[in-house]
Amino acid sequence: MTAQLIDGIALSAQLRIQVAQRAAALRGRGVVPGLAVVLVGDDPASQVYVRNKVKACQDNGLHSILERHPAALTEAELLSRVEALNQDPSIHGILVQLPLPAHIDAHKVIEAISSAKDVDGFHVASAGALMVGRPGFWPCTPYGCMKMLDSIGYDLKGKHAVVIGRSNIVGKPMAMMLLQKNATVTICHSATADLKAMTLQADVVVAAVGKRNMLTADMVKPGAVVIDVGMNRTDDGKLCGDIDFNAVREVASFITPVPGGVGPMTITMLLVNTLEAAEQM
Ligand code: GUN
Repeated sequence: MTAQLIDGIALSAQLRIQVAQRAAALRGRGVVPGLAVVLVGDDPASQVYVRNKVKACQDNGLHSILERHPAALTEAELLSRVEALNQDPSIHGILVQLPLPAHIDAHKVIEAISSAKDVDGFHVASAGALMVGRPGFWPCTPYGCMKMLDSIGYDLKGKHAVVIGRSNIVGKPMAMMLLQKNATVTICHSATADLKAMTLQADVVVAAVGKRNMLTADMVKPGAVVIDVGMNRTDDGKLCGDIDFNAVREVASFITPVPGGVGPMTITMLLVNTLEAAEQM
């Protein structure tokens, strides 16, 4: 069996039409939905990510500002910038790009963002709301993965979902979202004794490790749905995910590519969260 692709570019394009319509409706009421993206330092990958986020806003009728700060910015200075953005009525969503320089406590900065503007969904209040099934912002990457499963009409009820990776940004919130849809969820990580034994039981595998080829075809149950959150580089510099794509594709029923899979969906869900923040104000 050759898996069908879940095309994150095509799905994003569909969702972004709705985003643009909602943004236009808000503008009609005199509200221009606004996102502030804060970048500290000059990490090359972060620069690309923030540029893509700002451009996606501009292309879909949202207002966006990009604040760039030198790596030497102090924690106190960053906290005061966040506070200014909390108070700024033209800004509905605030995103501080991670990672931050080592001298800044990222947790403290995230907690300083108003939870009403936490469109990344990283705030403890957002994580807690997801955990107990209350309304709140969902982290964009796992939210995008859920939309990809929705797009193929996949019913998670009673299915076994295996999430590989336990980060606060992807693995843990992903597990909560799958659980909320009545999947039986296993979270695997670097200390899991027998990863292959776990993934072979999975109807759905979400790989979010950041290591190339960590999920190979012999680890996948025939017909499983495989979602690749990885963002890695091959030896010749090409973007690739965590999955041995060409081989896993011959075993899975559905698979997400890298590039063109989860990546564009992450940005799309950031737009959706920003709109929601603006609609709620
Ligand atoms: N760094 C890598 N991914 C993300 C993300 O989704 N949000 C933020 N703020 N930083 C990141």
